[in-house]
Amino acid sequence: MRLIKVDTCQPGIKLGKSIYDENGKVLLAEGTELTKNLIDGLKKHHILTIYIQDEASEGIEIVESIPEGLRLEAVNVITEGLNTIASLHSSNSNIQGMFKSGRAIRSFQKIIRDILGSLTENPTALNLLASTKIHENHVYTHSVNVTIYASQLAIENGLPLKNIEEIALGAMLHDLGKLYISPEILNKPGKLTKEEFDEIKSHCQLGYDILRKVHELPLTVAHCALQHHEKIDGTGYPRGLKSDEIHKYAKILSVADVFDAVTSHRVYRPAMLPHKALELLYAGNGTHFDRKQLQLFKDCIAIYPQGLTVKLSDGRVGIVSKYNFHSVGRPEIRIIRDEENQDVEPYEIDLAAKDHLTVDIVEADALL
Ligand SMILES: [Fe+2]
Repeated sequence: MRLIKVDTCQPGIKLGKSIYDENGKVLLAEGTELTKNLIDGLKKHHILTIYIQDEASEGIEIVESIPEGLRLEAVNVITEGLNTIASLHSSNSNIQGMFKSGRAIRSFQKIIRDILGSLTENPTALNLLASTKIHENHVYTHSVNVTIYASQLAIENGLPLKNIEEIALGAMLHDLGKLYISPEILNKPGKLTKEEFDEIKSHCQLGYDILRKVHELPLTVAHCALQHHEKIDGTGYPRGLKSDEIHKYAKILSVADVFDAVTSHRVYRPAMLPHKALELLYAGNGTHFDRKQLQLFKDCIAIYPQGLTVKLSDGRVGIVSKYNFHSVGRPEIRIIRDEENQDVEPYEIDLAAKDHLTVDIVEADALL
């Protein structure tokens, strides 16, 4: 299986991974032969890259950090739970409201335990690219992805389980305030006016005001909503907090939040591949993001996910075939073109092996 751009897709190509609609229903099943109409449909939904099956990539399997079924269940739980908590706030909560929010939080806790269980059972570099889902309201899928990234980062920090669960809850609820912002502003393709940007910024305080009143939640969860857009150098919002003034949970969330935002498709811009997103995050190392958190994050994500086509410093071209846990930036590669750009009988090399340490990845793309 490998990742290719929908733009370069020819009719007859076989889909490698299913594509889902916003309710988790399969729109296009794995193995479907794509027609011109189907390819046009993908473009219309702003899907830029897909996994396909072909001869060159035969046997390359994409390892999922979280099973697709669990991820879709998490999206449903978050969608329902966020709406329950948001509507209780609008309708002045009472005993029944408290009961409902308690139930929503228990369902969050259950899904968090499942996610943490899956992350610890399948210790693999995180790769959420594998799931292609069409969703108009991306707050829900974003919340699930941020929960997965932040949970893994919390685990890498060596924190006790209780703290990891709190961070995961904070991640699930961090953008709750966005449910009160008009979708036209959230999805606006062009530049925002100052008033519009101020409205977007208000989601942190809005989320905090609601969450701090939910007694079943620790106050740190409300602080995740309040502080996840703060930056180390004090240029973030809403309060312009600096380094040590920012809660550790928010520092973790901030990395997970931005990484997922830039690696996800949006109506107004294409998704970045993980290695590019990481470069962008590193541009803010120590100013936007906490240095230690960024370093830990780099070690737990698939910088070059399986199925990606890469160009090596000696000119050869190949497909990423396997991760190296001890060296996530130097995966195993199935070479498909030689130094002269001629097709060759595919063979594998391990960039982390002693013989190949002088060869680097110089370009990576969904099919070069
Ligand atoms: Fe946010």
